[in-house]
Parts: sequence; structure tokens; C-alpha cells
Amino acid sequence: MPVLRFTVNGVPRELVVDSCETLVYTLRERLHLTGTKIGCEQGACGACTVLMDGKPVLGCLTPALRCQGKEITTIEGVAENTHLHPVQEQLVRAGAIQCGYCTPGVVMTAIAFLKENPDPDETEIREALSGNLCRCTGYTKIIKAIQRAAEELRS
Ligand code: FES
Ligand code: FES
Repeated sequence: MPVLRFTVNGVPRELVVDSCETLVYTLRERLHLTGTKIGCEQGACGACTVLMDGKPVLGCLTPALRCQGKEITTIEGVAENTHLHPVQEQLVRAGAIQCGYCTPGVVMTAIAFLKENPDPDETEIREALSGNLCRCTGYTKIIKAIQRAAEELRS
């Protein structure tokens, strides 16, 4: 079986993987990084979103072997020691986390988005998050939190 060499949250990893193994399976079942969630497994819900070289990808649709030589960031790699990332912090403050199942994917999408667009309007935020489904919050608090995180990151 092929060997996958990649970096996860700054740590070099080397694993023998099945050629049909998905990235989210590798992260959760092989590396025990269970912060990344599995929802639909069909590319529809965004729960499995992680960053590959800083860009969001869906872990359920990404073959693990496509990550050869890449830098993967998961929700476990976002906070710095005990300091939450501003996106995480503002989601907590806004009360934008209910069951929390969508939250890791939302955080990863929002972090990548705010790097590309540091001063987005509400429509742009809604568009950026259109692939991240949330059954609980109605999105309003999530949008507000991302607006506040953008302000914090700009300041
Ligand atoms: S689990 Fe990957 S998009 Fe839903
Ligand atoms: S907080 Fe429950 S799915 Fe979003």
C-alpha cells in the first residue's frame, strides 16, 4: 500500500494508507484528530472542512493520497496554546454554537475566507459559508460572529 507523507497541524506525518482512503478517515481514525466531523459524506454539509495549504477542502471527498507533501490544518491546529483563534472566540461570544457539529467546518471555512477577504459584507459572508450547513442556529449569530472576528483580525 502507498505511503502518505504530509504535515498535519505543523507535525510531519508518514502513514501507510489505502488508495481509496479519504482524508477525513485518515485524520479521524488514523491520527485520532476527531475535531473534524463527518456529516453527509457526500460533499453537501461542510462538516468535514479542513485546510490544505491554507485553502478549504472537504475531507470526505478528498483522497488521502491527494495530500502527499501538503500542509493540512484541522480545527485542532487553530488555537495557539490556550488562546482561541478570533473566529472561535467570537463564535463562542455570539452564542453561535449549539450542538457544535458544524462548528469545526465553519471555523475552517471562515479562517480561509477572512484571509482572502478581510473586510467582507454580510452577503459575502453568507456566500462564503453557503457550503457549511447548520441545523441549529439559523446562521444569524454565526454571521455576526464572523463579522466581529473580521473586525478583530483587522485591528
Ligand atoms: S461530511 Fe463532507 S461535506 Fe458532509
Ligand atoms: S450548531 Fe448544531 S449544526 Fe450548527
